Amino acid sequence: MATRLAALPSPAAPAPTQEWWRSAVVYQVYLRSFADSDGDGIGDLAGLRSRLPYLVWLGVDALWINPHYPSGGADGGYDIVDYRAVDPDYGDLADLEALIADARALGLKVILDVVPNHTSDQHAWFRAALADPDAPEASRYHFAPASEQPPNNWQSLFGGPAWSRTPDGRWYLHLFAPEQPDLNWRDPAVGEDFDATLRFWLDRGVSGFRVDVAYGLVKDAGLRDNPGTYSPTLFGHGPEQAMTWNQPEVHDVWRRWRSICDEYPDTMLVGEVCLADLEQVALYSRPDELHQSFSFRLIKSGWDAAAFADGVQTALDAFATVGAPVSWVLGNHDKDRQVSRFGGGALGTARARAAALLMLSLPGSPYLYAGDELALPQAVVPDESKLDPIFHRSGGARAGRDGCRVPMPWNDSAGVGFSPDGAADPWLPIPADWAQHAVSRQTRDGGSTLTLYRRALALRAAHPALGSGTATVSTSGDVLTVRCAGDDETVTCVLNMGTDTALVPHAGTVLLASSTHVRSAHGTVALPADTAVWLLED
Ligand code: GLC
Repeated sequence: MATRLAALPSPAAPAPTQEWWRSAVVYQVYLRSFADSDGDGIGDLAGLRSRLPYLVWLGVDALWINPHYPSGGADGGYDIVDYRAVDPDYGDLADLEALIADARALGLKVILDVVPNHTSDQHAWFRAALADPDAPEASRYHFAPASEQPPNNWQSLFGGPAWSRTPDGRWYLHLFAPEQPDLNWRDPAVGEDFDATLRFWLDRGVSGFRVDVAYGLVKDAGLRDNPGTYSPTLFGHGPEQAMTWNQPEVHDVWRRWRSICDEYPDTMLVGEVCLADLEQVALYSRPDELHQSFSFRLIKSGWDAAAFADGVQTALDAFATVGAPVSWVLGNHDKDRQVSRFGGGALGTARARAAALLMLSLPGSPYLYAGDELALPQAVVPDESKLDPIFHRSGGARAGRDGCRVPMPWNDSAGVGFSPDGAADPWLPIPADWAQHAVSRQTRDGGSTLTLYRRALALRAAHPALGSGTATVSTSGDVLTVRCAGDDETVTCVLNMGTDTALVPHAGTVLLASSTHVRSAHGTVALPADTAVWLLED
């Protein structure tokens, strides 16, 4: 007997407004690569606005937009020149307001990115501080007097020392690129200015912020040496980087931001907290701090049932202690695409589809990265077209993040529908075979990854056990099982991460399978390697 697939449920009722973020599906839009409305080869707000119906059709609850601010252009918009404006590449404030209004009318929340750890070196404060060491703006950054050696052993995450020299010989701190000087959050003027920035956007109707580098704002007061060097093999930073990250005082910032958000109904904050210890990460989401802090375990785990099970269980346990939902991440603008991480080609695609079903079953708030619903692979970007400072600062030793940031393929025209006809070249080159992944093709294909995501999101909305249930995690060999118990029903996600078909006893309905090769007969589901299934218990 062939797999019994449940029919796509009719559109679910709108999510309850009460604490919508606890189980919201958030779609991350890399603005520069989403949709170009004016033909300059750069995605923009009007382009995104024109595609909002796609996001409604897909079935997400909210969108998080990567930085839209005027930027020095050194780090994909994460070097901000003016926090209360829109980069002309993307449009203007009226475009953003129109986007927010349209999204609201369509039932979508808009979350902006905010970058409080550092500004651009083009920011008015840093310019003033460079011009005059005694200017009040100078104490808003970390400057040290001219000397032979930098003040300590801290390293930039993008490679090389975290200290660079000013033209007059002083040192200044940048934990990322030299064009991203770190702010000194021990100067009260910094916090006051960010209060005004938050209110500026909240007053315009945004539903919250994704907070960049939320674990890094406050540094060791004495700027002492770190005891060790960060290893990229870790899940995040640990004690070896104790002087740079996770200082106790940073939590005061989040309490203050939370109290501002609490003045605006239904708003939320989600923090990027790259610490190895998830219990420490969860502390950022105590009831009076950020509503969520990303759990990056799955995005950093290889294709291994024990690693995935540990990633899920550790996150569930850690966030349960603070009463916050887990925010799950399998892909984002900083990491190679899942299809490529999991083996590439048909194998990587099968695994990425299966992993998506796992993530979308879990209680909490999943974050989808634009293009993951199309099973985009990591694009090959020629070195001469690469823009990422990670590539350039490592002298080419690290590939960089351009390959997960190329434009979205919307249709199978020559330019894949990213820009209008006759437009300038796209800001990153589009691979020649990109149209095979296009939205238009996948919409027509009942077996496409886009169709799978759409079905999954519709089922998730229709079955609260998915996304809001109580999860029990177990493994048997290479098979990972998560039983999600809701008030009225139970849905189990089974993910086969091994090489052999797994036989799963089950009496009930197959709600959804990641592959048409999943078979169900005589109370048993035959689950081939690299597939996942959602089973509704009778
Ligand atoms: C975060 C962003 C990344 C950026 C970095 C510096 O990790 O996700 O894209 O380069 O912060 O702002």
